[in-house]
Amino acid sequence: MTIETDAQLEHLRVIGRIVANVLKQMMARAEPGMTTAELDAIGAELLEREGARSAPQLAYGFPGATCISVNEEVAHGLPGVRVLRAGDMVNIDVSAEKDGFFADTGGSFVIPPVTPDKRRLCNATREALNNAIRQVRAGQPLNRIGKAIEQTAKQRGYRVIRNLCSHGVGASLHEYPEEIYGYYEPRDRRQLSEGMVITIEPFLSDRNRHVEDGDDGWTLLGAPGSLSAQYEHSLVVTRGAPIILTQPSA
Ligand code: CO
Ligand code: CO
Repeated sequence: MTIETDAQLEHLRVIGRIVANVLKQMMARAEPGMTTAELDAIGAELLEREGARSAPQLAYGFPGATCISVNEEVAHGLPGVRVLRAGDMVNIDVSAEKDGFFADTGGSFVIPPVTPDKRRLCNATREALNNAIRQVRAGQPLNRIGKAIEQTAKQRGYRVIRNLCSHGVGASLHEYPEEIYGYYEPRDRRQLSEGMVITIEPFLSDRNRHVEDGDDGWTLLGAPGSLSAQYEHSLVVTRGAPIILTQPSA
């Protein structure tokens, strides 16, 4: 969506803070021996307490409240019987709706012990997100986002997963300007405009350039033994630095 009123911005800030807080608490409470369904139930309860509804459930009939993807699972992971183990690389993606407004956030982390390779991948992906956010300004080409992500990935020795994109958000989970590539696409002539609400969510991997559909009809998979990471913010484009909506309360 494109924001036109202060009230719209306030609604987005509210749902942005909610999903950010839920993500933070789920990350803090993840521990070895817990199933992904148990971790998802924590998220479901926190969303409900805030009067928010799971966006993937609402938009796609996703049979979970949040997406939890472990190790070779890259995104849209369906919570279930999988048991979290020490050393697992976990991604939680939380998106939700309240009062007709949607926000979307996500992040990767490791259940201790953390190995240097996993820490490096997480740091590089966080850096890609930050570098991409720095490109966001009204009147600038939208493809600067993908350029920054791709450059950061290359510098750090990782691949960008090309078939997972950032996107417009706000009035629904996925909307105008639709897919925002995680790589430089010179033919993309779209521009960022003031008030536009988008996510930025780079997916970096040690091996994967693409994800494949898993057997459960939801989970997207990388190659066996591969690792991927993602960090996601929802933000509003302005004439200056963007407004990050998905920040947890202090
Ligand atoms: Co997301
Ligand atoms: Co998203």
